[in-house]
Amino acid sequence: MRAVMVANPKGGAGKTTLATNLAGHFANKGRKVTLCDLDRQQSALRWMAFRDPSLPPVTGYFAGNQMLFNLPKEPDWVVLDAPAGLQGYKLSDYLRHVDKVVVPVVPSVFDMAATEDFLNSIRSEMRGRKAAIGIVAMRVDPRTRAAMMLEEFLRHFDIPILAYLRNTQNYVNAAAAGLTVFDPPRAKHRRDEEQWQNLLHWLND
Ligand SMILES: Nc1ncnc2c1ncn2[C@@H]1O[C@H](COP(=O)(O)OP(=O)(O)OP(=O)(O)O)[C@@H](O)[C@H]1O
Ligand SMILES: [Mg+2]
Repeated sequence: MRAVMVANPKGGAGKTTLATNLAGHFANKGRKVTLCDLDRQQSALRWMAFRDPSLPPVTGYFAGNQMLFNLPKEPDWVVLDAPAGLQGYKLSDYLRHVDKVVVPVVPSVFDMAATEDFLNSIRSEMRGRKAAIGIVAMRVDPRTRAAMMLEEFLRHFDIPILAYLRNTQNYVNAAAAGLTVFDPPRAKHRRDEEQWQNLLHWLND
């Protein structure tokens, strides 16, 4: 079993979008995957409730109320969807259980400022496992000024940007139907799928 947590304390950064699509990717690869919802709002589980049972399956699991966190051992992959505002002992507890952390960041000054302390704290908690943290630039084109601002901001942290995901209604529409960009018909989402490849290689390393 391998576990990846998607986390950023800023609300609306794209955590659930990333987590559900990662789960959909692993399911479409024939892996046994559990989507572990750590958020009281249970958006990831709501997404699952929309998912057609004939699609590659994702198992859901709500763990937002657990005092002592435990991961299921049976699946090939566990994807954790963290809540906004995650910090302190809960964050430390989750970090102990996961192999990798993916942090979606929207390149706005507000989002970057809200993410700064979080990146510092996960970097110090995961000392010795520095290669286990990666950024996903959300809703951005890499050739823009916004992308340059994000790269500049991240230079201080020495954490890699693993993907740039464009701003597209494809994610909004897929979410509303319990789908991901990895579910059929894939031709519709080819451009989006391509943007995930580097992140997926990094996760499988
Ligand atoms: N690449 C994208 N293009 C367009 N819309 C996007 C993209 N990524 C996410 N969104 C939309 O942005 C909104 C916020 O995304 P999401 O719910 O994944 O964020 P979150 O970090 O999980 O939020 P919360 O902190 O409330 O849990 C959603 O409506 C989602 O559909
Ligand atoms: Mg969410």
